[in-house]
Amino acid sequence: MSSQDQPDPKPAGKPPRRVTVSDIARMHAESRRIAMLTAYDYPTARIVDAADVPLILVGDSLGMVMLGYEETVRVTMEEMLHHVKAVVRGTQRSLVVADMPFMSYGVNEEVSLANAGRFISEGGAQAVKVEGGRRSARTIETIVRAGIPVMGHIGLTPQAVHGLGGHRVQGKTVESARRLIDDAVAVQDAGAFAVVLELVPAELSAAVTERLKIPTIGIGAGPGCSGQVQVITDLLGLTYGFIPRHARRYENLADRISTAVSAYVSDVTAGTFPAAEHSSSMDVDVLAEVLGKGERHVASAGAMMSGEPIPLDRDL
Ligand code: KIV
Repeated sequence: MSSQDQPDPKPAGKPPRRVTVSDIARMHAESRRIAMLTAYDYPTARIVDAADVPLILVGDSLGMVMLGYEETVRVTMEEMLHHVKAVVRGTQRSLVVADMPFMSYGVNEEVSLANAGRFISEGGAQAVKVEGGRRSARTIETIVRAGIPVMGHIGLTPQAVHGLGGHRVQGKTVESARRLIDDAVAVQDAGAFAVVLELVPAELSAAVTERLKIPTIGIGAGPGCSGQVQVITDLLGLTYGFIPRHARRYENLADRISTAVSAYVSDVTAGTFPAAEHSSSMDVDVLAEVLGKGERHVASAGAMMSGEPIPLDRDL
C-alpha cells in the first residue's frame, strides 16, 4: 500500500473478545436488539467486524450477489468454505455464522454433521445456519449435540423456493401461520440458539417472538423480531435491478464505484495518472550507464577500438 494508507478499521492492540452464543442469549434476555449482516469477503468482514456487528452471516445469498448465479441452490460447500475462511480471517469480534448450502444437510445425518463440522474446523466459523422448521429438527439436534451452535431459518427458505411457489410472504393463512409457529417451536426445541424469520407478516413474527425463548432474527418480518438481518449488498447499494421491499439503502456504492472507475479511466487516458507522487525514481547516472550514455560506455567504446570484446548491458 502507498503512503496514502486508509486508516485500519481493525486497529492494532489487544484483540477484542469474540461474541459467543451466550452473549447473544444475554443480549436477548436484556431485550437488546441484535443486528446481523451478511459478509462474503475479507475486506468487508473487517469493516463489519470493526463496526461492532455481533453476528455476521456468510449467507448462501453469496451465490447470487457475489458469484452471479441465478439461484442460491447452485452454491457448493467448497464455495461456501472459501468465503467463510476469508470472512473469519477478517474478524476478531463478530460471531461468524456459516450458511449450510443446499443438499449439504438433511439427506443423511452423518453427512449433515460432517459438513457442519467442516465449517467449524476448516472454515473457522463459530456457528452454522440450517433452513427448515420441523423438517430440519433432527438435523439441528444432531449438529447441536456435537457441540456446534445452530441458527434456524424458517418462513421463506430460499433453498426450497421452488416448493414454496416463489419468493412470497409466508404464513398469511391460518394453516400456514400455524405451521410457521410449529416450525419455530420445533427449531427451538431442537436446540437452535436463534432463528431467522424471512418474509413473514409483522404481526405473526411478533407473536412467534413472544412465544420463543430464543431470539428471532427477521428479514422482511417486521420490527417485532429480536433482531434484524440484511444482505450487505442491498444495504450498500451494490446490486442492480431488483431491490427487496424489506431492504433500506444506506449507500449507493454501485454509483460511487462507477464514478471512481470512470475518473481513473479518464486520468489514465489523459496521462494525468500516475503523477510524480505515485512513482519512484532512480540515480540518473545509473540510468545513463544502462542507456549507453555513461562513462563506462565511453570506456567500452575505447576497448572496442582496441579489439577487446564489447561488454553486454547485463555485464555492466
Ligand atoms: O443467505 C442469506 O443471506 C440468508 C439471509 C437472507 C438470512 O439466508
